[in-house]
Amino acid sequence: MIVRCILGFVIVMGLFPFGPAAAADSSEAAFTEKRRQMVEAQIAARGIKDPRLLDALLRVKRHRFVPLHIRPSAYEDRPLPIGEGQTISQPYIVALMSELLALKGTERVLEIGTGSGYQTAILAELAREVYTIEILEPLARQSGRLLTELNYKNIRLKTGDGFLGWPESSPFDGIIVTCAPEKIPPPLLEQLAEGGRLVIPVGKHWQNLKLVRKTKDRIKEADIIPVRFVPMLREKK
Ligand SMILES: C[S@@+](CC[C@H](N)C(=O)[O-])C[C@H]1O[C@@H](n2cnc3c(N)ncnc32)[C@H](O)[C@@H]1O
Repeated sequence: MIVRCILGFVIVMGLFPFGPAAAADSSEAAFTEKRRQMVEAQIAARGIKDPRLLDALLRVKRHRFVPLHIRPSAYEDRPLPIGEGQTISQPYIVALMSELLALKGTERVLEIGTGSGYQTAILAELAREVYTIEILEPLARQSGRLLTELNYKNIRLKTGDGFLGWPESSPFDGIIVTCAPEKIPPPLLEQLAEGGRLVIPVGKHWQNLKLVRKTKDRIKEADIIPVRFVPMLREKK
């Protein structure tokens, strides 16, 4: 009797590893609910307002972009490891950087640091075309496969050193960098269209997230918030 009571208690509390609560926790419905809570508590509550962006964050299944064993944590308020010593950024940072690009749906965007492909997918929901560069071949292969499986038709991905940008396809209306250089790479400024926006973390250990705007005759730079990104790697010649 005592044993049955304890067992019942454990199942009710959702702590029994094979109980109904554990099964429900990894169902699509459970992930959808976690995603809704993520958008409400981590994104909208912190002041992100763009309705197209909030919709995209509700639509894109973040749990598909993390390794299987950390799927239960996919909607937590933090970056997570994705292999190769790299991370998928915190959901709020993905949202903030996307909002800073002020996308309307007609733009061509360049992303440096594909990583898991999650930020790429969010951009693909918001812009006309997304060009993305990842320096680490295994991550580029993995995210390329996933983005194809998810049926994104407006993404072009290549492996390479994003410091150099993608000159053949420039200029870009928006450029987003998800790894941190110590200084803004000059090729990225050159490849930014007039009226375009560059969102980039700049610095060594801690960085400033910067919004750079290019107008006809000048470059305007604004510091947004302090952030911590993985460093920008360089390809050896
Ligand atoms: C914070 S992680 C990626 C976050 C990613 N946006 C996501 O949603 O998963 C930064 C990525 O930048 C890549 N990276 C670092 N230096 C790079 C470079 N020079 N060119 C392109 N990618 C680079 C890293 O390999 C890593 O995958």
